[in-house]
Amino acid sequence: MRPHGGDEHGEHGENGGHGEHGERGEHGERGELVEARVDMVRRMDEGGVVLSSRLAEVFLNVPRHRFVPVFYRRDGDRFLPCRRGDGDAGGWAARVYADDSLITEVDGLHAEDAGERAVTGVPTSSSTAPSLMADMLDALDVEPGARVLEVGTGTGYNAALLCRLAGTENVVTVDVSERLTAAARERLGGLGMSPVVETADGAAGAPGHAPFDRIIATCSVRRVPAAWTDQCATGGIMVVPLKGTLAGGVLARLTKLADGTAAGHLLHTPAAFMPLLSGPRPAPPPAGPEGGRGRETPLSGSVLDDWTFSFFAQLHLGPGVEREHHRAADGSHTTVLYDPADGSRARVTDHGDGRAGAAVAAAGPRDLWTVVERAHRQWRELNRPRREWFTVRVTPRGQTMSYTSPAGRTHTWEL
Ligand SMILES: C[S@@+](CC[C@H](N)C(=O)[O-])C[C@H]1O[C@@H](n2cnc3c(N)ncnc32)[C@H](O)[C@@H]1O
Repeated sequence: MRPHGGDEHGEHGENGGHGEHGERGEHGERGELVEARVDMVRRMDEGGVVLSSRLAEVFLNVPRHRFVPVFYRRDGDRFLPCRRGDGDAGGWAARVYADDSLITEVDGLHAEDAGERAVTGVPTSSSTAPSLMADMLDALDVEPGARVLEVGTGTGYNAALLCRLAGTENVVTVDVSERLTAAARERLGGLGMSPVVETADGAAGAPGHAPFDRIIATCSVRRVPAAWTDQCATGGIMVVPLKGTLAGGVLARLTKLADGTAAGHLLHTPAAFMPLLSGPRPAPPPAGPEGGRGRETPLSGSVLDDWTFSFFAQLHLGPGVEREHHRAADGSHTTVLYDPADGSRARVTDHGDGRAGAAVAAAGPRDLWTVVERAHRQWRELNRPRREWFTVRVTPRGQTMSYTSPAGRTHTWEL
């Protein structure tokens, strides 16, 4: 498994920026990066992803390192910039070609602008783990000549893969961040690729370039924005990460139907994409009240750590319900749920003295933990349904997710 001649362009470009290291160093480095990339594709292929030969070809021939010259690595709850030439070039290359996501921005501060500083905060951009990208691209089924929209340009790496699959003139990619689109445009250009790279709120799609045969989002949404369905051609495919505020994000693969609606199913792969940021940011949950209606529950708040269940619980709670959780020194768990829509709030605290169950304090119009208990009972009755057993329907009147049991009974939830 080797990259073919097409890779040379990119690798020469990379050397151009490091001329001071001299001829031998350049060649040694080039070989190392190519080997690391071949290894990454081999590991992806041996792992859980079935790589078609076309996908293997694009991953082999697009140099990921060109898109992530600096990224953050985690150190506890801090993020440390990791750059080539920090005296740990081998470590940098190994990380770039590991099958991991690489965080490039934390609270809007790009790793390339962070100097030597460690930062704390919430990641706002990253290069997705390659095997997850491969799963999504496989589901997207991109043929040469297909018109493709990507929402969430980030580093530009996925856009480069799309350019190789569809043809560079057929790809449009948008990101809200000018900092990101400018860097991605330049890096794509350095590889001879010139897709349309726009700075815009991707919730509106890219109306000036529609219709698209394929739409892929690399940030998550609670519901599929109407603009995406409108801008997808009939028969076109959309791959969209759906996620509420709880863990347990899923990937929907939808086909646009002749009546203007879209229908499809969830993929088996879990996916926790960062959210599409659009419109005003939701206010953080207010502190307290500590009190509220008190009762006992057999169900610990940690039940929401199970991604399959938390996805199911979110269908019952609604996409906006927020969760905070922590463990005390004695290992006992506290979960707080908060619904910004109506102010309902539930605090669930493990007894922590070896006793099973937890104490609930609920305030506001709904007891949110009752909703979770009911969802948990149904989840068990339905035999813990897996993501890929759910179907999704998107119409102008509403969006739903459904599951049909082996007995033929269909359960449907509004998104
Ligand atoms: C996981 S990253 C994308 C990774 C990217 N595809 C790559 O290959 O590097 C998610 C991106 O979504 C972008 N994003 C968030 N809200 C957005 C919005 N409203 N419109 C467009 N992009 C958005 C973020 O700026 C971030 O770069």
